[in-house]
Amino acid sequence: MASRKTTVPLLILLLSLFLKFLMVEALTINSNDIDLNKACIEEERKALLEFKHGLYDPSGRLSSWIGSDCCKWTGVDCNNRTGNVVKVDLRDRGFFLLGGEISGSLLDLKHLTYLDLSLNDFQGIPIPNFLGSFERFRYLNLSNARFGGMIPPHLGNLSQLRYLDLFGGGDYPMRVSNLNWLSGLSSLKYLDLGFSGEIPKWIGERMPSLEHLRLRGNMFTGDIPEQLCWLSDLHILDLALNNLSGFIPQCLGNLTALSFVTLLDRNFDDPRIHEYYSERMELVVKGQDMEFDRYCQL
Ligand SMILES: *[C@@H]1O[C@H](CO)[C@@H](O)[C@H](O)[C@H]1NC(C)=O
Ligand SMILES: *[C@@H]1O[C@H](CO)[C@@H](O)[C@H](O)[C@H]1NC(C)=O
Ligand SMILES: *[C@@H]1O[C@H](CO)[C@@H](O)[C@H](O)[C@H]1NC(C)=O
Ligand SMILES: *[C@@H]1O[C@H](CO)[C@@H](O)[C@H](O)[C@H]1NC(C)=O
Ligand SMILES: *[C@@H]1O[C@H](CO)[C@@H](O)[C@H](O)[C@H]1NC(C)=O
Repeated sequence: MASRKTTVPLLILLLSLFLKFLMVEALTINSNDIDLNKACIEEERKALLEFKHGLYDPSGRLSSWIGSDCCKWTGVDCNNRTGNVVKVDLRDRGFFLLGGEISGSLLDLKHLTYLDLSLNDFQGIPIPNFLGSFERFRYLNLSNARFGGMIPPHLGNLSQLRYLDLFGGGDYPMRVSNLNWLSGLSSLKYLDLGFSGEIPKWIGERMPSLEHLRLRGNMFTGDIPEQLCWLSDLHILDLALNNLSGFIPQCLGNLTALSFVTLLDRNFDDPRIHEYYSERMELVVKGQDMEFDRYCQL
């Protein structure tokens, strides 16, 4: 009898302890969940939906862009701790082309550092000026996306930018009226763009971090500026398929980081210059014959 009387409260006590334990467990799991995978911010989710709404997406590439957690959507990456969208990568990887309009709602993604829209088909619409307002951009790739018209000088405001790829190609070469706007991009490591005119001397002076310079397939005229020799981290230099003249600066041979060089490919009609350049090439890429063969079609 006595033992039964004490058993019941003991059971209740144990049960309540167990329930408490369960609750604590549940709470910890929940807060862990939040820490590991901070949910998408509602305002940014709306901005992405509006962006999607403006796009033409015949193959349904953005069909995962539904539901409340935009951090799980295809091509969207968020900061783990804050839940802010930091990356939108919609590079086309298999002919599921996006087109249409790029909505200004993107500006609500205040923490965006990375945007890749390359290899899509925007059918000649111009690059919107507002892309120059993303103060945190470090990576912008609009190459081969068939944008039309001029590159907006507003992109020169992207002072944090490390990678800028505006290679036009094909039917929609992207053009700029001058390159002065570029001179504010002093942190650039990678630059690829279309232009006609002379290669600005200040590229060598004002972009000391440049590792990759690709001005292929444009209408550049005039000399290769000696100032390019100031770029001590330059690995890749590609000036092929332009209309350059003059001589290659001797000093390019002194750039120790330079491993891939393509200066020729119909740049020069004069066979003597061709020979001279071939000689310089050997000097520049000493010991790197394999890469030389692949990247430099003489
Ligand atoms: C989120 O955390 C994982 C694991 O720690 C890490 O690999 C990933 O780079 C982080 N992503 C971002 C956007 O910070
Ligand atoms: C930009 O995109 C193109 C095509 O998708 C790619 O080949 C290129 O490497 C990218 N540029 C950078 C800087 O990543
Ligand atoms: C961005 O660049 C454009 C064109 O170069 C300029 O008119 C505009 O004032 C700049 N905006 C800011 C916020 O610096
Ligand atoms: C190449 O540049 C020269 C001037 O240096 C010019 O006379 C010629 O027309 C240009 N070629 C083309 C195809 O534009
Ligand atoms: C670069 O190399 C050339 C020989 O090719 C040499 O005459 C010149 O002094 C070097 N310049 C520098 C800055 O090292």
